[in-house]
Amino acid sequence: MKKFTGFKDDFLWGGATAANQIEGAYLEGGKGLSTSDFAAYKDPYASGKVNNFTFNVTSKELAEYTMHPEYYLFPKRWGIDFYHRYKEDIALFAEMGFKCFRLSISWARIFPTGLEDEPNESGLVFYDAVFDECAKYGIEPLVTMSHYEMPIELTKKYNGWISRELVPLFEKYARVILERYKNKVKYWITFNEMNMNLNSLYTGAGILEDLVDDSLQAAYQASHHQFLASALAVKAAKEIIPDVEIGCMINQIEAYAHTTKPEDQLQAVKSNQLNMFYPDVQARGYYPSYIYSYFSENDLSIDIRPEDADILQEGTVDFVAISYYMSHVAEAREDASKLAGTFDSPIKNEYLELSQWDWPIDPIGLRISLIKLYDRFQKPLFVCENGLGAKDELVNGEVHDAYRIDYLKKHIEQMREAVRDGVDLMGYTPWGCIDLISCGTSQMSKRYGFIYVDQDDQGQGSLARYRKDSFYWYKKVIASNGDEL
Ligand code: BG6
Repeated sequence: MKKFTGFKDDFLWGGATAANQIEGAYLEGGKGLSTSDFAAYKDPYASGKVNNFTFNVTSKELAEYTMHPEYYLFPKRWGIDFYHRYKEDIALFAEMGFKCFRLSISWARIFPTGLEDEPNESGLVFYDAVFDECAKYGIEPLVTMSHYEMPIELTKKYNGWISRELVPLFEKYARVILERYKNKVKYWITFNEMNMNLNSLYTGAGILEDLVDDSLQAAYQASHHQFLASALAVKAAKEIIPDVEIGCMINQIEAYAHTTKPEDQLQAVKSNQLNMFYPDVQARGYYPSYIYSYFSENDLSIDIRPEDADILQEGTVDFVAISYYMSHVAEAREDASKLAGTFDSPIKNEYLELSQWDWPIDPIGLRISLIKLYDRFQKPLFVCENGLGAKDELVNGEVHDAYRIDYLKKHIEQMREAVRDGVDLMGYTPWGCIDLISCGTSQMSKRYGFIYVDQDDQGQGSLARYRKDSFYWYKKVIASNGDEL
């Protein structure tokens, strides 16, 4: 009988980031402007309650930001200057013993407007250097092709992923990076958290919401185009890199029923289906029947063409990746399907504590998610984001972040339990392994890292890096393959 021995020997311990939240250098090396370069800092506490999703842009705002950038702060333009400091940062990851580093490639570094025929060589050279640096330490890059950004020209010209024109443009980009890095990168993810299109059209799909008639229709149309682009990228990856491992990814927000009332239970099933729709398509290669019922109930008419069926079928992924931060409570109510999978669950789970940004902390929810995902797909899973955004205090070069250690420890324990339950888990890359700019609020003060970066929300600071207590703790976790928590 097979005995439980903990995480696999080749378990990919590491950390995760995204280009637009770390690189900075937003106009260097021939990079074009990205959608994320227009995520102006807005006070997330303006309404008296923390707003976790200020990263949305209207056509009016885009015009204003383009004409008068000097009046605004755009933190994603400066990131944490990884572009110039990647050697120091990767050396710190290596010191913690990382086996894997999740990062994304900025599409606009490779194709500044998305429309060029030829890629931008200096953009390609930059990622060559980053991957070479990882290789020096035996760190496997896990590369996201699209993490919440794209050339802004594609928003201006096509209003983002609502247009099918983006599919071949993305395929061209994917083929270029796959070809270029085929000997350096084995692990890939096509799109970050595609299900978040339902939360923010601009963040996920580069769509200016005020220019569409129906946001729900736009979200599903954009998702369909991303499914096609993702499937074509998977197909290309398999042609170009024979031993590639390429996955899809969602923001996994498990819905619990509010009560044992059958109506609430049913709502939880339906909410979870709406999240599962994304990996269902990408892992199985076709649209599940429930989504057609949902489209018809909501009067959605998605342009899906006959030739799309083969594309989806030929581009199924090897593994399913998730980010996991919280669970959600579902209740039978009119607007329930709109609330499915959102950050702002209207009903609080009385059993869970909240983070400083009001995110419910639910380690067992991670175990539940992993079990259910593995039952459903029978494909390896990857927890490629998880973590606690918190305020840290740097005192005499030290950060005592016991709260973060506690959070991560409890989540790793539950991952171990999931492995014991039979789940095939490939790796764990906690989010923001080095402090970075928040996606949702553009704050620097919402910190996730093992490494503190001296910079404030206004972009002031020395940018010096400091090891937090969690840095030394995580190093031991990795060295013991998760035995010593
Ligand atoms: C995930 C995103 O949803 O959550 C990341 O993939 C993001 O880009 C992370 O940073 C945490 O969210 P936030 O808003 O705290 O940065």
